[in-house]
Amino acid sequence: MCGIVGYIGWQDAAPLLLKGLKRLEYRGYDSAGIALLGSTLSVIKQKGSVGDLEKDTVARCAALSGATLGIGHTRWATHGEPSDSNAHPHLNTAGDIALIHNGIIENYFSLKQELLSEGYVFLSETDSEVLVHLIDRVWKRDQSLDLEAVVRSALRHVEGAYGLCVISSREPDRIVVARKGSPLVIGIGVDEYFIASDAAPIVEHTNKVVYLSDGELAVVKRDGYSVKSIENIEQEKVVTELDFSLEKIEKGGFLHFMLKEIFEQPDVMHDVMRGRVRLEEGLVHLGGIHDYLDRLKRARRIVICACGTSWHAALIGEYLIEEFARISVEVDYASEFRYRNPIVGVDDVVIVISQSGETADTLAALRAAKEKGALVLGICNVVGSTIARETLCGMYTHAGPEIGVASTKAFCAQVVMLYMLALALSRGRTLSNDEIALNLKELASVPEKAARILQLDSQIKSIAELFKDAKNFLYLGRGYNFPVALEGALKLKEISYIHAEGYPAAEMKHGPIALIDEDMPVIIIATRDNTYSKILSNIEEVRSRKGRVIAIANEGDKEVCRMAEHVIYIPQASGPITPLLAVIPLQLLAYHIATLRGCNVDRPRNLAKSVTVE
Ligand code: G6P
Repeated sequence: MCGIVGYIGWQDAAPLLLKGLKRLEYRGYDSAGIALLGSTLSVIKQKGSVGDLEKDTVARCAALSGATLGIGHTRWATHGEPSDSNAHPHLNTAGDIALIHNGIIENYFSLKQELLSEGYVFLSETDSEVLVHLIDRVWKRDQSLDLEAVVRSALRHVEGAYGLCVISSREPDRIVVARKGSPLVIGIGVDEYFIASDAAPIVEHTNKVVYLSDGELAVVKRDGYSVKSIENIEQEKVVTELDFSLEKIEKGGFLHFMLKEIFEQPDVMHDVMRGRVRLEEGLVHLGGIHDYLDRLKRARRIVICACGTSWHAALIGEYLIEEFARISVEVDYASEFRYRNPIVGVDDVVIVISQSGETADTLAALRAAKEKGALVLGICNVVGSTIARETLCGMYTHAGPEIGVASTKAFCAQVVMLYMLALALSRGRTLSNDEIALNLKELASVPEKAARILQLDSQIKSIAELFKDAKNFLYLGRGYNFPVALEGALKLKEISYIHAEGYPAAEMKHGPIALIDEDMPVIIIATRDNTYSKILSNIEEVRSRKGRVIAIANEGDKEVCRMAEHVIYIPQASGPITPLLAVIPLQLLAYHIATLRGCNVDRPRNLAKSVTVE
């Protein structure tokens, strides 16, 4: 999704902004641009990469160096195709106001008609350009106002979501920023300030940040900043210390962020459990929801809303909570929940799961659930994210920054979190303390088992070499492994662009079996659990139609070895634990197939890391 950076201080702004934009590349984008305010206001923007933009900026360096104030943007098209003119920043006609914007202006069409009738000329097809002309109009009507006041006044006409930065050569000592629905962070340096849509571009400069809340507008100058509500009321802001280092967001010796993040999973699992799993006492302590645990245990029903990979984690959560805690769980796509008038009330608990904590549909589901009176709990990875702040209580997954667009370590952290939650909900109700202790012990053994699976990387790569040219893949699993099959298929399609489908293995006979022939690789998760014998029959069904079976089986399983063309062995574990292990070979398989096909695994086409629009 679009990214924002801004700088005001004493250093040359152009290289700082370009570096900041590079740190935001992981979010996905199609064009980039910067505006610099020195003796004049200059904009360079174009379709393509930040690297291309950098070349262009260097070529024009003489004209641009010396500016110590600027803003930059990476755009992911929503209104208007990726193009030079649709790239941000946008200028007013006089060229003395520049603006960058994340989000969507919902009433842009009517605003644009109004502005066109007044003679405004639009150079782009974006909704964002409306904003700069609106600001210009307010300023023309009352020239005594300052930039802050005109931005505030213009925003009163706007419906929709925004995170925006505005600069003007009429007031060359400030950046005005505002937020509604699209995140913004201000980094605090010494006589300099950094602005960004997330902390990644800021962390190398300072670890002191202020998160803007929805409906806030800030004026950032070299000697300080002030934050007010859109209604012009002074806001008290807390300075937060970032707790991740730059090193953590760089590749750490791996070829791609995605591979690094897959390999980080054993550590991530430890981090999620740290301080929460108390093996000696045989209990799990979830500080973020502690005060609400009794209410959660009394829930009539739990509804889990999420999107993408987080939705797959939610499905595993459903199985876990129903099995351990015997509370009825429903899982909904956040995008469906928000529009289908669901039956949710004060007796229900809604859990929203989001890596980024900014996904627009999940955020809307959260707000809808709150409106209906449900207790809303969040499971997020990004600290201070909107979802984390808007939920009544919740838990951070502590997976660290996830840069690869295709989610891997965040998924595993979410599943560990849900496993702990299910056990916490069982205590004193459905499971004995001994049973809880036993399950926790098993959970605590997962990181070591996961590390063993990572050693199979080269075997998995050689399987990937054999199947990299396949046109389709089918992923099958039963029980806890059904959501894993969905996740395996999603990983493959996201990064390799091969069509893949995940199915509950028993459903194969109701349709997908028609697709099976000698060209169809079928990944079957055949671990030893209560559906083991059934899944062996499913392997037979695929084989007898000449499908090419790649099985994920437990170490020492000779039966599956005899039946499948390839077997990837994972350590033995109970059903509820298996997803945490079975997903790892599927992540690696997708990764290797995609890299062998020459795909950009960290930034797959058309996808965004954080989808902050509908
Ligand atoms: C996007 C990403 C997916 C992610 C989904 C939900 O589609 O590309 O990897 O699973 O959003 O994101 P969230 O941050 O809410 O977990």
